[in-house]
Amino acid sequence: MDDSTAKSDFFVIKALEDGVSVIGLTRGTDTRFHHSEKLDRNEVMIAQFTEHTSAVKVRGKAIIQTSHGEIENT
Ligand code: TRP
Repeated sequence: MDDSTAKSDFFVIKALEDGVSVIGLTRGTDTRFHHSEKLDRNEVMIAQFTEHTSAVKVRGKAIIQTSHGEIENT
C-alpha cells in the first residue's frame, strides 16, 4: 500500500454510549492531539486518515470498522 492509499483509508466509528471521544493525532515527527470529536450513543462518524491525521484514539464504548477489520471497544 503506498502512502496516498494509506491516507485515503476510511474508518467508521459507531458510539455505543454517550460521550465517546474520537481524537485525531497529527502526522509527522510531532505527534499531538489536533481534534477531539464527541459522539453520543448511536451516532456514527465516518472519517479518513489524511495528510494531517495519521492516528486516531477512541475512548469509550464503540464499534470501530477499518479495512483491517472490526473491533468493539468495551
Ligand atoms: N481536519 C482533519 C484532517 O483533515 C479532519 C480529520 C480527518 C479528523 N480525519 C480525522 C479529525 C480523524 C479527527 C479524527 O485530518
